[in-house]
Amino acid sequence: MKAAIPFIGIIIITFILTGLAPTDAERPFPKMPDELGELLFNDPILSIDSTISCASCHRPEFAFADTSALSLGIHDQKTRRNTPSVMNTLSRSVLMWDGRAASLEDQMLLPLEHPGEMGFHRDSLVARLSDHTFYGPAFEKMFNKPVDLPLIQGVIAAFQRTLETSDTPNDRWLMDMEGGLNDQQIRGRAIFFNQGNCIECHFTPDFTGDEFRNIGLFNGKDLDDEGRFETTQDSSDLGKFKVPGLRNVAVTAPYMHNGIFRTLDDVIDYYNDPDHFVPDAINRDTIITALGLSQKEKDDLKAFLEGLTDDRFISLLEARQN
Ligand code: HEC
Ligand code: HEC
Repeated sequence: MKAAIPFIGIIIITFILTGLAPTDAERPFPKMPDELGELLFNDPILSIDSTISCASCHRPEFAFADTSALSLGIHDQKTRRNTPSVMNTLSRSVLMWDGRAASLEDQMLLPLEHPGEMGFHRDSLVARLSDHTFYGPAFEKMFNKPVDLPLIQGVIAAFQRTLETSDTPNDRWLMDMEGGLNDQQIRGRAIFFNQGNCIECHFTPDFTGDEFRNIGLFNGKDLDDEGRFETTQDSSDLGKFKVPGLRNVAVTAPYMHNGIFRTLDDVIDYYNDPDHFVPDAINRDTIITALGLSQKEKDDLKAFLEGLTDDRFISLLEARQN
């Protein structure tokens, strides 16, 4: 009789453990499209060899950006440009550094079918998901019809549209709430709006007007990305890139379309004296000229940019500051 007690215990433990690892058929289906989109965003099932997910490059813990200048796609291939954050895209009218996608739905097909990123094909993805023991039924249950491409594009876009961030010192300061900008950040804000001319391009609540501008990172030699020109073939667009939004910018290093700057200090040093870095820039915007900021002013400006960080990334920001 005594020997039976541990025996029953083992049976119960085995039962609990197998119960903790549900098979696909037992996984609860998400209730909302964005929840299904989040699962797909994080799932390498979207790449041909099931090694790379959207989140491999757009890393959720780094404000959905990457920490290296260029990211790695399938077979360790490097991306051509730096991976931007996919947060705060709700109000964007253009996407990608050169603006070649107009919506999140369209954009998703670019990494999916890029041979160096996910290397897959839209039809094969639909087939793979409809055969899948979890995703097939999950789409059916949510939409009352079999999975198709627009549904896949829709749920991934829906997830990305939930990634808005507004719990920042700057937002609180604008609303006269506690926990707003400190004195140094307020001084930095004045530089952003006045002496620095930053507001000329980084305007609107997300600090981008979705325009294309050339800040001088194209010289046709070592800096040879033609940017917006690739899409329009208009020579006035040579070296222009989409003005990136600046929310959470303190935690999305490295910076620029090519990830050329490692820190915000490097970025500010560049704007302070662009000719020092790229003396032979082609087609540079006339507003980009030496600013003559002192070290203290540069520090203040950086402090303001840090004040655009959402509370959820505050520990990351503190780690960067140390
Ligand atoms: C191998 C790395 C990699 C993968 C995988 C990847 N991306 Fe990206 N993503 C990038 C890079 C690099 C860019 C910028 C490319 C450019 O502008 O030319 C980008 C740009 C974007 C943008 C535009 C953001 C903006 O502000 O303009 C969105 C949205 C996006 N990706 C979403 C996704 C989604 C959704 C997936 C999965 C289906 C995905 N990405 C997979 C690297 C990646
Ligand atoms: C003429 C328009 C313009 C002005 C003025 C301007 N920017 Fe920019 N900014 C851009 C563009 C365009 C890019 C992307 C350039 C590229 O990748 O080649 C950019 C990139 C950045 C980035 C990198 C963001 C990222 O995610 O990689 C930061 C930070 C930044 N700007 C801050 C500032 C600050 C601070 C000022 C003022 C001192 C300023 N900008 C002035 C247009 C401008």
